[in-house]
Amino acid sequence: MNADSAKIEIEKLSKELNQHNQSYYVEDKSLISDFDFDQLLIKLQELEEKFPQWANDYSPTKRVGGDITKKFETVIHKYPMLSLSNTYSKEEIEDWVSRVKKMVEDDIEYVCELKYDGVAIGIQYIDGKLTQAITRGDGSKGENVTANVKTIRSIPLVLEGNYPNDFEIRGEIFFPLENFRKLNELKRESGEQEFANPRNTASGTLKMQDSKVVAQRGLDCFLYGVYGTGNLREGHFETVKKVADWGFKIPSEKLRYIEKTKSLDGVMDFIEFWSEKRQKLPFEIDGIVIKVNKYHKQEELGYTAKSPRWAISYKFKAERVETSLMNVTFQVGRTGAITPVANLKPVQLGGTTVQRASLYNADQIVKLDLHENDQVYVEKGGEIIPKIVGVNLTERSGNSRAINFIDKCPECDSLLKKKEGEVLHYCTNDKGCPTQLKGKIEHFIGRKAMDIDGLGAETVDNLFEVGLINNIADLYELTFDQVIEIERMADKSVNNLLSGLKMSKEISFPKVLFGLGIRFVGETVAKKLANSLKNIDALIEASFDSLIEIDEIGDKIAISIISHFEDEENIEIVQRLKGHGLTFEIEEIEGSSTKLKGLSFVVSGVFTKFSRTELKELIETNGGKNIGSISKKTSFVVAGEKMGPSKLKKASDLGVEILTEDQFIALLNE
Ligand code: IVH
Repeated sequence: MNADSAKIEIEKLSKELNQHNQSYYVEDKSLISDFDFDQLLIKLQELEEKFPQWANDYSPTKRVGGDITKKFETVIHKYPMLSLSNTYSKEEIEDWVSRVKKMVEDDIEYVCELKYDGVAIGIQYIDGKLTQAITRGDGSKGENVTANVKTIRSIPLVLEGNYPNDFEIRGEIFFPLENFRKLNELKRESGEQEFANPRNTASGTLKMQDSKVVAQRGLDCFLYGVYGTGNLREGHFETVKKVADWGFKIPSEKLRYIEKTKSLDGVMDFIEFWSEKRQKLPFEIDGIVIKVNKYHKQEELGYTAKSPRWAISYKFKAERVETSLMNVTFQVGRTGAITPVANLKPVQLGGTTVQRASLYNADQIVKLDLHENDQVYVEKGGEIIPKIVGVNLTERSGNSRAINFIDKCPECDSLLKKKEGEVLHYCTNDKGCPTQLKGKIEHFIGRKAMDIDGLGAETVDNLFEVGLINNIADLYELTFDQVIEIERMADKSVNNLLSGLKMSKEISFPKVLFGLGIRFVGETVAKKLANSLKNIDALIEASFDSLIEIDEIGDKIAISIISHFEDEENIEIVQRLKGHGLTFEIEEIEGSSTKLKGLSFVVSGVFTKFSRTELKELIETNGGKNIGSISKKTSFVVAGEKMGPSKLKKASDLGVEILTEDQFIALLNE
């Protein structure tokens, strides 16, 4: 393809992808399968790599992230970001309505909206293109988080229709609860501390340096105000509807996310409705916002120093109940991490009976100054498990007892240890603590790892109790005669279990690796490691330096892998599993070879015969390794056109051989 036709193709693909994005993330309807969407995106990515002169900052390829922000630059807001005055009772809303009525003539329209519980953002569009996104900060200046905001798929990068040349749109970035729970599930699986609530996690995510990680987390955004457009329409409600034409996701009238009313009763009805129904929303809200609709009335009402007089928020009292804390018990996870759990006198909260609350870690108990038999306040956040937010000290009685964080494991009595820089305590008996051992086996047989048919937690428990299994390798040595002895195991279930184990030998290497339960090696990390190193021996032998060279593998993961395999017992388990025929290598792809084995490559610049992705694939299928940055140990730099001069200099300074595309092909054909 020549440059001219590439330009046309890039424009066509971008338009097509933008349209699919819009219908999926904004209009909630899908016109194409995920697979087909990804294929189009890959095609565009490759064309942009091959013809970088046509790549641009607003391309749909920006959605997957990749840009790194080392330091978020501070930017002054063109229009200060004010806050809303808060009220907590209906009487205060009545007072506000009377004040408004006194100040402006009657016949007032009110717009009721949800108060999304996330992070405020101001997004600037110039000539229909997203040019800058700034956090609220202190209201007069915020941080430039543009690269991260571009990955949020419901925010258009390029506008449609008849939009003004230069304006700013304001909204709230939030974590949809489904995505938040998924993220915590991943954290749990890799033995890491879970996030406490969606709002803080949304805020933390927005400030991450690597926009690729932001893209994976799945943030979303609702818009609630437009600035710098002049009055597009007579009122706020009509303007919000108008911006939908440019491609923005606006709150749904049908679902009652936004409503226009002329009466105080209408406002109260909206508040009433969401006070009851807010638990059913797929995202968190912390109140309702009421705005005077017509712009000329807003102007008449004006502003106080901090907030507009034409708007007010009604904040929900976080759904909170008081109950007594009976005691605290301690749970042991498969990694040995100890989680304190509060056992509560059962109480109704948000439509369910609550009797347990997570306390996360020892620091949390100290922070809350929690005592047994205290009256505690319990709230429900984005997580299924509610949390204790405070103690009613006026009710503290003589029978309250300070909670001593245990110093021994509740399951095996071994000493607990707090690792440096971590908040969690760990049981140190990872070889003998029954709960840890069973937890490791349960993790291995789980759906996302070996997915073994006919084997569940209860059977693992029984097999463990009678001493038939102690680790994951023991599973593959079970015989029919042994298992049939277990209570409630009939012939059929034993056969099921044994054939499930046999079939699991076909499970792919990344899943087996995930199943080994190495700390911080979750599903995605296992895939990365497997695809890069190809087999378990390479992983066992990998040095710290070679591990952190792999894309997305950082110090923490590398240290964890090394210490896992420093333990002879873990090596022995791998050897036994290998002996039983489990898959410990990536299956060979057609056209693969080991010609480049032991060689590492940095690919940079623009190529004519292959795209950069294709070149990297060629290196991996021929046994070589792609690394991100040039070091003394790099075997070759494959340099295309437009490779940065600083990289070229670094390569020659370090004496790393530089290959052109043709020289690389010659090397492959040697
Ligand atoms: S309107 C002049 N509408 O609440 C202020 N704000 O204290 C205009 N928020 O930081 C804000 N949902 O991020 C408005 N529907 C909504 C909102 C909303 C959430 C946040 C906003 C702001 C804070 C106001």
